[in-house]
Amino acid sequence: MTDKNRTVAVLGAGVAGLAAAKTLTQYGFDVTVHEACSEIGGVWANNYRSLRVLEPKWVYGYPDWPWPSETPLYPPAEHVRRYLTRYAERFGIRHRIRLNSRVVAATPTADGRWRVVTETDGERDSAEHDYFVMAPGMFNLKKIPDWPGQDDFAGQVMHSSEFRDGAQVAGKQVVIVGFSRSAMDIAVDIVDEAASLSMLHRSIRWPVPEKILGLIRNHVLLFARWPTHFAPPWIRPGKTARLLHGKLQGGVDFFWKFFEVLLSTQFRLKQRKLEPDRPIKLDLFTNLYVAPPRFFGLVGEGRIAAHRAEIEAFEKNGVRLTNGELLPADLVLCATGWRHDYSFLPAELLATIHDRDGMHLYRHMLHPALPGFAFVGGVQGINSATLYAMQSTWLARLWTGEFTLPAAEDQLAEIEALKAWNRDFVSARPNRSQVLNLHQMPYIDDLMDDMGLEKHRKNRLADQFVPYRSADYAEVTASTSPR
Ligand SMILES: Cc1cc2nc3c(=O)[nH]c(=O)nc-3n(C[C@H](O)[C@H](O)[C@H](O)COP(=O)(O)OP(=O)(O)OC[C@H]3O[C@@H](n4cnc5c(N)ncnc54)[C@H](O)[C@@H]3O)c2cc1C
Ligand SMILES: NC(=O)c1ccc[n+]([C@@H]2O[C@H](COP(=O)([O-])OP(=O)(O)OC[C@H]3O[C@@H](n4cnc5c(N)ncnc54)[C@H](OP(=O)(O)O)[C@@H]3O)[C@@H](O)[C@H]2O)c1
Repeated sequence: MTDKNRTVAVLGAGVAGLAAAKTLTQYGFDVTVHEACSEIGGVWANNYRSLRVLEPKWVYGYPDWPWPSETPLYPPAEHVRRYLTRYAERFGIRHRIRLNSRVVAATPTADGRWRVVTETDGERDSAEHDYFVMAPGMFNLKKIPDWPGQDDFAGQVMHSSEFRDGAQVAGKQVVIVGFSRSAMDIAVDIVDEAASLSMLHRSIRWPVPEKILGLIRNHVLLFARWPTHFAPPWIRPGKTARLLHGKLQGGVDFFWKFFEVLLSTQFRLKQRKLEPDRPIKLDLFTNLYVAPPRFFGLVGEGRIAAHRAEIEAFEKNGVRLTNGELLPADLVLCATGWRHDYSFLPAELLATIHDRDGMHLYRHMLHPALPGFAFVGGVQGINSATLYAMQSTWLARLWTGEFTLPAAEDQLAEIEALKAWNRDFVSARPNRSQVLNLHQMPYIDDLMDDMGLEKHRKNRLADQFVPYRSADYAEVTASTSPR
């Protein structure tokens, strides 16, 4: 059988699904994409109005698909939508995408293929494919906590992704639950329109500024190789990391302490009673978020009232907090994050690869018990479009036989080792096994090693100190015979 005959069903047409579809098509597979929504783009298609990319455009994107020159440095969601639409058109995958087609079941067949059942407008359809790639995203199902008394509340409860325009908040007493990027983005966005604005937090993480001390863009640090050596060491630490976390541990601790003082000073966290709960070296590598530039200033001015409390119960005209306070509210906006839905996989199969910590897959993509299956986009990195394009290239090259995997028992041993490393290091939450953040770089290095490609994309000094851009991997994702 040639690759041309081999069929692949891809679930999802977000950044990950599109990368998988483009790359597998490029390698000769016959791809069909099923997208549950009426448009492509995933989180970029359907979200709040001020959403934009966190990173400068040269670090967020597909390596072989540059942004148009007129795109702002931090592309707003509508630019991302256009960027993705043109990508799908340019690489000939637009006609392969079936919109409003939800995958409701994906089951391995006795002869090693995948039966994929889809639903469109209540009608079911089913087809067999040689491969099944899931790319449902890690943040696609709204999480709204269930609080007592919610049904008697006279106001409205809304998830962050449902916020669209000022009319929804004008003249209202707004309470935002959550203290991460969605919460802060929306707070800055609506502060001039809401009658009052309160925010509730149950924990505080270290904020990363867009510009360190207002001078240096954060990607200089986040996207360079050298800071990764200072992180709690990756599962297979390199020579430098072993030295730093051995004899030179004192220096590493000083480095992070210095950084904490710097950020605390920049955001005046102590004066604003917003000191984070955990050391930065853990937060940065697990719960990374970039603070919108005006946010902490607005808290300092008292225009956003930050409360360290959770909702205990709803009252008719407001919320009662765990600290006893009663906050009047017309609108409670839940920027409380996301859930996953993998129910399209058979329960017994899901139990093999998923537990309370999230997915456990070899290279975060495959499992020896599931031939013909892959998850693209199942890791949280710092520039996901680049990361998912690299995963897609790795997958296409594997499935076209350009390299082979270690024996099944070695893959399982690696999965177990990663599980243990992860539990030691990442705080408990439903997707902790899927967090890479700044460990994205050593992870991509592993993919490059597997493919037999040169992972150091720059010369010696630059490779450590010059931030990596998406385009540094352009040759890898553009060609079917990359270097
Ligand atoms: C608000 C927000 C902002 C973000 N900003 C950034 C950022 O600035 N930089 C960054 O690096 N990362 C960011 N992220 C992380 C983000 O998740 C990725 O950047 C990326 O867009 C995710 O792409 P994805 O394709 O994996 O998932 P998604 O964008 O979630 O796409 C998944 C797609 O799968 C579809 N789908 C799901 N289930 C089914 C099914 N059963 N059948 C058919 N289709 C299905 C969904 O409808 C969706 O279109 C952000 C996340 C959120 C929530
Ligand atoms: N491009 C952008 O500008 C942009 C914008 C938004 C989001 N993002 C990305 O998208 C991802 C999701 O971000 P997000 O802000 O939507 O979600 P998130 O990071 O998961 O944050 C959810 C927030 O809600 C809180 N929370 C959750 N459940 C709660 C409960 N029951 N009661 C009280 N508080 C609760 C969490 O507190 P705890 O921390 O204590 O759990 C946290 O503060 C992140 O990777 C983020 O970087 C990017």
